[in-house]
This record gives sequence, C-alpha cells and structure tokens, in this order.
Amino acid sequence: MDTSLESHLQDLYPRGREHDAPLADRLLRLRNMTPAAAGLIALLIRVQGSRNVLEIGTSNGYSAIWFADAVRDTGGHLVTVEVDGERVEQARANIAAAGVAEHVSVVHGDGGEVLAAAADASADLVVLDAERPAYVGYWPHLRRVLASRGVIAVDNAVSHRGQVEEFRKLPAADGDFAVRLIELGDGVLTAVRRR
Ligand SMILES: C[S@@+](CC[C@H](N)C(=O)[O-])C[C@H]1O[C@@H](n2cnc3c(N)ncnc32)[C@H](O)[C@@H]1O
Repeated sequence: MDTSLESHLQDLYPRGREHDAPLADRLLRLRNMTPAAAGLIALLIRVQGSRNVLEIGTSNGYSAIWFADAVRDTGGHLVTVEVDGERVEQARANIAAAGVAEHVSVVHGDGGEVLAAAADASADLVVLDAERPAYVGYWPHLRRVLASRGVIAVDNAVSHRGQVEEFRKLPAADGDFAVRLIELGDGVLTAVRRR
C-alpha cells in the first residue's frame, strides 16, 4: 500500500470511531471494519488473485478502500453495495479522495437483491458486513454466485457470534466448503469453496 493511501486510511478510521462514539443508535453509526479485519481480507484478495470482489455493506467506504487497493494489484474490480443513499455519497467521496475510484463500483441498493441478480460463479470473494440476520437468506445465492475456490468473509463473527452462528452452520454443513473463524479484529468467519 502506498504511503498516501495508508495515511488516508489512518485518518478515516479514527474519524469513523469519533463519529460513532456518541451515537446510541447503531444504525446511525458508520461501524467501520477494524483495520486488522480489512487488512486480512485484502490479504485474501491478493493471495487468491481475486478478480471479482463483492462487498455487501459499504458504509462510508472505509473497508472498500482497503479492498480497492488489493484489486488494483490483482487486476480485478470491487463492487460494493450500500442501501443508504447518504452513505453511498460519502463512500464515493472517500473512495475518490483515496485515489482508487476506478477500481470500485459503489452500488446504491439492497445487497440481497444484488446477490439474487448476480450470475452463477461470478464472484471470487464476497464480504458480508451488513445486517447479520439477513445472511442466512443470502446463502442459496451466495453458494450459486461464488466461483470455484471462492471465498466468503463475514465480519463481526466474534463480536456478534450469536448473530452469525446460524449462518456459519450453512457452509459448515456443506461438504463443498472449508469453514474457519479467524479471531482477529471483531472476528472474520471465512468459508472457502474447496474446488
Ligand atoms: C457495518 S456497516 C459496513 C461497514 C463497512 N464495510 C466498512 O468497514 O467501512 C453496515 C452497512 O451496511 C448497510 N446495509 C444494511 N443492510 C444492507 C443491505 N441489505 N444491503 C446493502 N447495505 C446494507 C448499512 O446501511 C451500513 O452502512
């Protein structure tokens, strides 16, 4: 990561934390992924050489900037989906200021609908960082959309373990997937298609 992008991220993250600190309503918070979790997923993108990355839950674009930097190296592209129009505008501005806009499409919409409309085997890596109770309903489409050796990464799998547990059981019971909880940041559940 170049130093200007690193300093951009180092500025954006504490601003997000300061924004969130006084807010009791979690839906009003930006809830950026920890740098450790975003860095781990960026590493997975680079190691996999992911070309098509899908993120559900953009917020103000903090994690998307990490992933955009990684797909810049793989020659890939990130599609990140956000349901809140104001956040979409914030994300587009932050991503442009970070200098990675050409590697990202910020889609204003519902992540579940975007998944349902996606082509079979069209995503190498999917990040879930939205409303956790919805993930169980995403599973049939996630399974269909994920390419060979594709990866699903779910944030908050330790901080909100109870809300991710029902989802975890789905790839864990599916012989096509290897599932591992990485206890770093708020916890990243990973499910990798074996072949
Ligand atoms: C935890 S935040 C995402 C944080 C972001 N990944 C980051 O690290 O900067 C969750 C975001 O998901 C959005 N969201 C909730 N439900 C959604 C849905 N069905 N489709 C797309 N976005 C959704 C919320 O508006 C919120 O901005």
